[in-house]
Amino acid sequence: MVFIECKDVWKYYGDYPALRGINLTINEGEFHCVIGPSGSGKTTLLSLIGGLDRVGKGYLRVGPYELHKLSGSELDEYRNKYVGFIFQLFYLIPRMNVIENVELPLIARGVGLRERRKLALEALEAVGMRDKAYRKPSQLSGGEQQRVAIARAIVTQPRLLLADEPTGNLDNKTTAVIMEIFRRLNKELGITIVMVTHNLELIGNCHKVSRISDGVITRTYEVPQVHENLSNLIRELTSI
Ligand SMILES: Nc1ncnc2c1ncn2[C@@H]1O[C@H](COP(=O)(O)OP(=O)(O)O)[C@@H](O)[C@H]1O
Ligand SMILES: [Mg+2]
Repeated sequence: MVFIECKDVWKYYGDYPALRGINLTINEGEFHCVIGPSGSGKTTLLSLIGGLDRVGKGYLRVGPYELHKLSGSELDEYRNKYVGFIFQLFYLIPRMNVIENVELPLIARGVGLRERRKLALEALEAVGMRDKAYRKPSQLSGGEQQRVAIARAIVTQPRLLLADEPTGNLDNKTTAVIMEIFRRLNKELGITIVMVTHNLELIGNCHKVSRISDGVITRTYEVPQVHENLSNLIRELTSI
């Protein structure tokens, strides 16, 4: 079932068209990668899909929500209900401990303390960070901080997870841990994931990969499960 549908989506910053007619479909339960050079519109595309910003022109649907028709406050409601975000920088609040950081989106929704604690501990459990629930972010490694950020993103049980270069600041080993968590959330909870990455090695975790260039999706590939074909795809993507 098609979950995200972009038809001729444009986004302008002033006169500058950052997105120039995006056409993209992503199925429910898919783990979809977006790759492309710096400045090609990856972050802009995620911000439209996530309802952080309004569509300039075109048609954009996520689940039952026709985002191009929604007002600012309706987009806020969509985002709070439906979407979790993960960024390259973790944006944890330093003076709060881990569990308080994870609870934050629930406070915004008016969930009571006991229920908050329970849900936050479950989310921390899902990323293997329950035992560090009472530490401060500064007492964690980069990879652990990103795991906490993932817990914060999933604590509201979103249907869609948007990740903008989530492993950009992490070493290879930690990247593998984060990718394993993404794969599990996708597979076990059925969360649709759209991940922007510069790291072509990561596309092996995904079902499909789209290339974006100058604000246009130039091509979408199925990611082959066979390693040899995957290597060929990576070579093809690198050579463009
Ligand atoms: N808030 C903004 N105001 C003006 N221009 C912007 C803004 N955000 C992004 N841009 C421009 O839009 C283009 C796409 O940006 P972005 O989506 O951040 O690209 P990417 O994430 O692929 O690096 C770039 O040329 C960038 O300079
Ligand atoms: Mg970006």
